[in-house]
Amino acid sequence: MRVIAITNQKGGCGKTTTSINFSACLHFLQKRVLLVDLDPQGHSTCGLGIKTPKGTPTIYELLSPIQAVPPSMTQVIRSLYPDFDLLPSNAALNALEEECNFMPNNQLLLRELLARIKAQHARYDFVVLDCPPNLGILTWNALNAADEIIIPVEPSFFSLHGLGKISETIQVVNRSRSVPIEVHALLTIFNSLTSFSQEVHDEVRAHFKTQLFRTIIHENVSLREAAAAGQSIVQYAPGSSAFQDYLNLAVEYLERDWDRKLPSQELGWHKVFQNHFAPRSMPDGILFQFSNKTAATVEIAGDFNHWVPEPLVRRSDDGLWQKIIRVDMKTFRYKFIVDGEWQVDPSHPLQKENAYGGLDSYVELS
Ligand SMILES: Nc1ncnc2c1ncn2[C@@H]1O[C@H](COP(=O)(O)OP(=O)(O)OP(=O)(O)O)[C@@H](O)[C@H]1O
Ligand SMILES: [Mg+2]
Repeated sequence: MRVIAITNQKGGCGKTTTSINFSACLHFLQKRVLLVDLDPQGHSTCGLGIKTPKGTPTIYELLSPIQAVPPSMTQVIRSLYPDFDLLPSNAALNALEEECNFMPNNQLLLRELLARIKAQHARYDFVVLDCPPNLGILTWNALNAADEIIIPVEPSFFSLHGLGKISETIQVVNRSRSVPIEVHALLTIFNSLTSFSQEVHDEVRAHFKTQLFRTIIHENVSLREAAAAGQSIVQYAPGSSAFQDYLNLAVEYLERDWDRKLPSQELGWHKVFQNHFAPRSMPDGILFQFSNKTAATVEIAGDFNHWVPEPLVRRSDDGLWQKIIRVDMKTFRYKFIVDGEWQVDPSHPLQKENAYGGLDSYVELS
């Protein structure tokens, strides 16, 4: 069970939008996810259409040290879908800070709660924490419970101003940890048409270096509409570029996870995932990707379509071309056709010689 806190003291930078949609995309990729709303604003809760009328137990009752008879975990955890649950929150959580202000270990309440959840509901692969926009007791609880953090940064002057503060906070967190917290940064609400966004991108990349996800979450009205409809983007607009952005984020995150877990000598299908654009398994088939900013057409042909070229769709301003193809084969060969020129997949290392003396890209599903 990996715990990921989505945190930044800066308000309105996309923490909740990322918590909801990153969780939903991890679930879309068949991971078992618990989303924890740790913000008394309760935005992850209402953004997923969950109501908590007075008297409904929420995360507050599970964390509060003054509950005479705390509710059971199953009374509080709400199932959104099989294997996608929510620990809801509402304004009652505001009381926690005052209640446990002078309590020893008041920053470890969530860690203890998650240990209990792990013991009783060991089924989650990922726990995602939506943090409030301040460095109060709730955020410290999240930082002490998390294995890693994702820092959403939206392009604004104030965001850049806050980067130094974030680094200081991470240093403080690491003082009491044997393993340093893993840090990822994410550009959100990005408008590629403004040069200011680009300047912020350069500055954030210089600050976070490889910790910055290559995926960018672009400004997209579907994300606002999805929240208003009480749905994740997976439900609300699975054909939108906003869905594609968050799916790319989940995939890139999982790749980092695989890189960490896999011994480098391990071969087989997982190896295929190590490159960002290499083919990868999706619920509907295999996702093929090709990065080229200048090409007018990119097609794919292989064993699975009898070598009849099919077009990829250009998805983003960055020149990312994609297509999901249902493949019912354990091994297959393929090639891209870029503006009429046949070529092997530059992102995928496995190749096999073909009958014409050339090379095909080759995939072996394990
Ligand atoms: N990529 C996006 N495109 C368009 N609107 C967005 C995007 N991401 C977030 N928003 C909108 O921006 C506003 C702030 O986003 P969000 O609530 O996710 O931020 P937050 O960091 O959780 O805020 P808070 O600090 O108050 O918790 C919301 O209205 C949300 O719908
Ligand atoms: Mg929020």
